[in-house]
Amino acid sequence: MSTAADPGAADRARRGDLAGADLLSPAAVADPYPLLAALREHDPVHWSERYRSWFVTRFDDVSAALRDERFSSDRIAPYRRAKLDVPEADQAVRAAFGVLEDWMVFKDPPDHTRLRKLLSRAFTPRAVDRMRPRIVELVDELLAAIVARGRADLVGDLAYPLTASVIAEMLGVPRADRARFKDWSDQITGLVFGGMGDPNRHTVGAHGMGELTEYLTGLVHDHEQTPADDLLSALIDARDADDALSADEVVSTGVLLLFAGHETTTNLIGNGLLALLRHPEQRALLDADPALAAGAVEEVLRLDGPAKTIARVLAADVELGGRTLRRGDRVFLCPAAANRDPAVFTEPDRFDITRRPGRQLGFGFGLHYCLGAPLARLEATIAIPRVLDRLPDLAPEDEDPSWHPVLLSRGMVSFPVRVGGPPASRRA
Ligand code: HEM
Repeated sequence: MSTAADPGAADRARRGDLAGADLLSPAAVADPYPLLAALREHDPVHWSERYRSWFVTRFDDVSAALRDERFSSDRIAPYRRAKLDVPEADQAVRAAFGVLEDWMVFKDPPDHTRLRKLLSRAFTPRAVDRMRPRIVELVDELLAAIVARGRADLVGDLAYPLTASVIAEMLGVPRADRARFKDWSDQITGLVFGGMGDPNRHTVGAHGMGELTEYLTGLVHDHEQTPADDLLSALIDARDADDALSADEVVSTGVLLLFAGHETTTNLIGNGLLALLRHPEQRALLDADPALAAGAVEEVLRLDGPAKTIARVLAADVELGGRTLRRGDRVFLCPAAANRDPAVFTEPDRFDITRRPGRQLGFGFGLHYCLGAPLARLEATIAIPRVLDRLPDLAPEDEDPSWHPVLLSRGMVSFPVRVGGPPASRRA
């Protein structure tokens, strides 16, 4: 209990209670929000001995850190130098980390500035917007198959194939080759999002990365011979007066887009459908006014968005929330906690699709703000209302779906649903 003589005692006691907090305990994987709220309230800059990392949970701290160059994104190159530049290292793992090292999301300025500028020339608002009719078509195709079967896994049968097809089509991957992407992408997930505890994740991830880069290298070669009206040709062409992407950078950026383009968006669509099925009154609002779809997607990004945490490594010592964080420390900035901070959002735990759009951090913030946000928003605002409209009797098979046990992202392993016929009131 806090006393006048020692007003910080209660706070330290609560911090003590939270000392063993584990975001990957089964309870926290299923629902991380009570633990994140306790951290935000009682230990907002939390040292986790278990993960040898800091967890930062308040909105102001997370958004300030995302703009602070001492919180470095360059976390692959130091790992490669320390662990993989040694003779006994697995060469396939080393090569896979070499591809990740070219991803702009793992770079600081000036390398980041250069890559982001070149990619922005190819990944334009026009390139995104012209996918609109294809997204509608793809959703309808997937829904037709689901209706015919009468049941579905909304992750595996809808969100994943939709988002994977959209980004593969944008890049120019032939349809016949797309089935192979799921395995590669699943394998790479272990490399990027980490499984903390899965000893094989680097070897398996390296295998997927090896096959995907080999495939894309061939595709880039084909595009160099015969340019097409797609993102891969645009990446090959993206250049400044005196700069362009190297062939390796085109391949690495292609892998980044394929990967970033669907893992997260799959989770946004899945989490969004789950939230609307769990809140029938919000679903009714959306049914009555389809213009609320964009607001509903923003609210899902805020309340249960795919980016649970964003990782950084400190490039210098930092004082934050009365703690001293040391150069080289790993920090998990937590949008999932910041987006429910009562200092910023009224009734933060309430799902309200009519909420005024706020400053949610679900796509990050600052230099690395998600480049694919317009595409993710477009896919989710088309898919979510369309699914609910076509499948009015949709109901979860399981009240407690299983979630991926990872620190960085929040998404369901699968989302089994029952698909009934339309109720009498809707048949009229
Ligand atoms: C709901 C879906 C998505 C979410 C929640 C999401 C989330 C994020 C977040 C939080 C970041 C910042 C990472 C950091 O600061 O370290 C980011 C960066 C990025 N995202 Fe997304 N993303 C989504 C969809 C997409 C899509 C569809 C694409 C592309 C097709 C994409 C491409 C990228 C790229 C290239 C970056 C790196 C930007 C940079 O480093 O400057 N994302 N995303």
